[in-house]
Formats: sequence, structure tokens, C-alpha cells
Amino acid sequence: MRTSTILLTALAAITPAFCIPAAPPSANTSLITCVQHPASPREQQKIFERYAELLYVKRTPDPAFVYIASDEIQHNPYQLDGAAASFAAVNPIVTNCSYGVEVLQQAFQAPFGWVHWRLDGPFPTPTSVVDIYRFEGACIVEHWDTMQQVPTDAINPHPLF
Ligand SMILES: *[C@@H]1O[C@H](CO)[C@@H](O)[C@H](O)[C@H]1NC(C)=O
Ligand SMILES: *[C@@H]1O[C@H](CO)[C@@H](O)[C@H](O)[C@H]1NC(C)=O
Repeated sequence: MRTSTILLTALAAITPAFCIPAAPPSANTSLITCVQHPASPREQQKIFERYAELLYVKRTPDPAFVYIASDEIQHNPYQLDGAAASFAAVNPIVTNCSYGVEVLQQAFQAPFGWVHWRLDGPFPTPTSVVDIYRFEGACIVEHWDTMQQVPTDAINPHPLF
């Protein structure tokens, strides 16, 4: 077992979620994206759960993006289509260990998967995010998200999280 593997295993045992420092930007150039093949709804669910684990829990976008189609359709108004643009936006956030990333709930109903998660940083207050993904075959081909920061003028006594 390599030292890094032992270290990661040890870290994983201490905390439920862990964080690997951001990969250098050059990692971008070797991005491996999804190879399309047919998948049943059950197989899509397995892929989605693996993707969510890799991206939001292990915080490792590189292996997670093998499930993203290279020509992914993007609805985030601040990103362009394609896995490379999506990776460039997501990688600095989920690999930054000074930010908190916590999955609150997730669900899958073919061909859609949702992840509702909490992001602490880079915004001034904690942010609630819902990512919605659509599958075709074995690949995530489309993404939407909505984000809401904890406001300073809430009238509802229930917390956002
Ligand atoms: C990473 O990919 C994005 C989106 O295609 C691009 O804008 C950026 O220049 C790339 N960065 C590197 C270091 O290749
Ligand atoms: C992580 O986030 C902090 C706080 O915004 C920032 O100062 C730091 O530069 C980031 N680290 C990397 C590697 O981007």
C-alpha cells in the first residue's frame, strides 16, 4: 500500500469527509470524460451514487468526471457547456480544504439525480446548493444548479440547514 493511500485511509477513519488539496491547474489538460454505453435505470443510479461520493464526499473531481459527458449541456449562467468548463469551475471549490462541503440529501429517479449540499465558503455566509443532473445511458449529459446563501434578514425561525 502506498503511503498516500495509507494516509487517506487514516484520514477517512478520523473524519466522515476529507479533502485533498487542489490539483494544479495543469491537471485540467488530462481530464478524462465519460465513454458512452447503454445503462439501465438501476445502473444509472449506481453511477450517480458513485459520482456523488467521488465529487462531494471524497472531493476528488478527477475520477468523478469520468461520468460527465465531454459535451455536457450546462445551465449554470456563469459556466459554458462541456465537462472541461464544468471541471474548471468545480475543481477549485471542492478541492479547497478551507471550504466545507457537506451532502445533506440526494435522490435519483431515472434519468435525473439531485444532490442538496451545504457549501461553507467561498461566499460570505453558508450556501445551500442543489445540483440536478440528467443521464443519457451511462453518462451525465446535462446539469442545472440553484444556490441560496443564508440571508442576514431571514424572517423564518427555521434555519436554512
Ligand atoms: C481548463 O479548462 C478550461 C475550460 O475549458 C479552460 O478555460 C482553462 O484554460 C483550462 N486550464 C488549463 C490550465 O488548461
Ligand atoms: C482556498 O480558499 C481560500 C479562501 O478563499 C483562498 O485563500 C485560497 O487561495 C484557496 N486555495 C486554493 C489552493 O485555491
